[in-house]
Amino acid sequence: MTYAAIIGIGSYLPERRLTNADLECMVDTSDEWILSRTGIAERRIAAEGEATSDMAARAGTVAIQDAGVEPGKVDLLIVATSTPDMLMPSAAALAQAKMGLTCPAMDINAACTGFIYALQLAASTIESGRARTVLVIGADTLSSIVDFTDRTTCVLFGDGAGAVVLRASKDPGVLGVHLGADGTGADMLMVPAGGSAAPLTPERMAAREQFMVMNGNEVFKFAVRRIPQVTKQALRESHLGVEDVDWLVPHQANQRIIDTIADRLGISHDHVVSTIRDTGNTSSASIPLAIDALYTAGRLRPGQTLALVGFGAGLTWGAAIVRWTKEEDV
Ligand code: UT7
Repeated sequence: MTYAAIIGIGSYLPERRLTNADLECMVDTSDEWILSRTGIAERRIAAEGEATSDMAARAGTVAIQDAGVEPGKVDLLIVATSTPDMLMPSAAALAQAKMGLTCPAMDINAACTGFIYALQLAASTIESGRARTVLVIGADTLSSIVDFTDRTTCVLFGDGAGAVVLRASKDPGVLGVHLGADGTGADMLMVPAGGSAAPLTPERMAAREQFMVMNGNEVFKFAVRRIPQVTKQALRESHLGVEDVDWLVPHQANQRIIDTIADRLGISHDHVVSTIRDTGNTSSASIPLAIDALYTAGRLRPGQTLALVGFGAGLTWGAAIVRWTKEEDV
């Protein structure tokens, strides 16, 4: 049997920091409210003219170098994003050119679950023998769809990109993935205008419909109910239990959600990765950014088991169980 294993990782965060103190000057909020309700202290914001494909290419290039793979050996590029540079071409096609790759390239949009969806597709393609090396990037420029006059959303989101290179391996890497979606919950988190249902018009822009709207309370409840279930399902399908998880790497949406998920799974907070304080919610980028933070801190050891779990607009959700096989010096 051929498996897919992570052999390279990289990330990119834009330089500009947006702190809670900055937001206090923009909307009726406070550092105390944001920190206590979300755990976020600051987030990064893309520079003027810096698009999703730019950040994706930066993270992807680092991951390819980390993997020690020749760019010409990458067989497929998948970019998970819900904020592509433009409706077409895909952010993946634009990032492919920026990285000097020549392989097929496509976007996946499963909102904040995008990285887990992309990982499933990449692993399946490798396991089936149709590709040997796949670059998966999660990248989002949430600042382009956040309404910076809406305090209920603008304090939560940031920009960034994270990437992994997967390669065919005889040893198991991606052990199991379980995905889900329920489109009846679409109105809980959406950008109403700018697509085919409601093309942008001056009237829609005046009503600020080009920006994200969210029912935060409902998304919160959905996440803490669904994620423990899907994590257990993915573990079962991988013939593992919660006690086998060395690192829970949850989508970074809210520290209270992260803590509740860990508590409901019975996983000690020492085994949970949290980067939300410094990045906010970076959607598709949040899980690879969190893995990379763990990796660069030297805390990931070969043989350890990661449970990557995500949820977001759609509604979508997913969990991937991954055995870390990469040596630090590879
Ligand atoms: O990537 C996945 C997508 N998103 C998520 O996962 C988000 C999930 N939801 C959440 O993280 C939380 O629901 C929020 C952080 C969005 C909100 O936290 P909450 O504890 O659920 O607050 P709430 O919506 O129940 O609001 C409590 C109060 C309200 O005031 P009143 O009605 O009690 O007077 C809000 O108007 O807090 C107010 N509020 C704020 N106050 C200061 C809402 N946003 C802010 C703010 N600053 N930024």
